[in-house]
Amino acid sequence: VIISVASFKGGVGKTTTALHLAGLLADSGPTLLVDDDPNQSAQRYAGRGGDRLPFEVLSSSVWSKQQPQVEHQVFDTPARAESADVRSLARGSDLVVLVSSPDPMSLEALLDAARLLDSTPEARYRVLLTLAPPYPETDAAEAREALEAAGVPLFRGQVRRAKAFQKAAMEGVLVYQTRDPRAKMAWLDYRAVFQQLRDELEVTA
Ligand SMILES: Nc1ncnc2c1ncn2[C@@H]1O[C@H](COP(=O)(O)OP(=O)(O)OP(=O)(O)O)[C@@H](O)[C@H]1O
Ligand SMILES: [Mg+2]
Repeated sequence: VIISVASFKGGVGKTTTALHLAGLLADSGPTLLVDDDPNQSAQRYAGRGGDRLPFEVLSSSVWSKQQPQVEHQVFDTPARAESADVRSLARGSDLVVLVSSPDPMSLEALLDAARLLDSTPEARYRVLLTLAPPYPETDAAEAREALEAAGVPLFRGQVRRAKAFQKAAMEGVLVYQTRDPRAKMAWLDYRAVFQQLRDELEVTA
């Protein structure tokens, strides 16, 4: 399958999401993460871990030269994607995962992206809320309510805000490969999201 991870706002967890979804896809076949961000954050992330990720990371320029035929590909995109780029990415993907944190600025940008994809023929997308603050903060629940009211398709699960993700980023590994006490819960968040994605895209293990 081909998945693109995008948002119109920076720093909402795109690269983290792209890496973790690629890690989950890698269980069911060779997987490539295509780093389409000129900041090369995914490549640098992978570099810090020295090849401890269960998939390969390629820059988009190398990818377009080689056109590798790999079972699963995940595209990480720049902080502020251009509308035209998101549209063409969406056309080439089985699913666009639109990422947002549950804060007003990020949600506003998310609604713009959702409308853009609504008006893109053949584009299929689902929204993932990340950086969800812990109970008793209600930001994520309120964001879900607002998005549901706006008719935006959401993943049933969401990804909590957890320092384990920053630790994983520093070590260049996926969150389950860190020793943080909350790493397990953090990993389960992405696993649950992946299960829905897998069922909907009919990825076979
Ligand atoms: N669920 C989370 N909990 C805590 N920190 C997180 C979480 N997800 C991502 N982060 C951290 O937030 C920062 C931004 O995440 P990330 O790089 O994935 O966002 P991005 O949308 O790709 O950013 P950019 O737009 O700059 O490419 C990183 O330091 C990352 O480790
Ligand atoms: Mg990024």
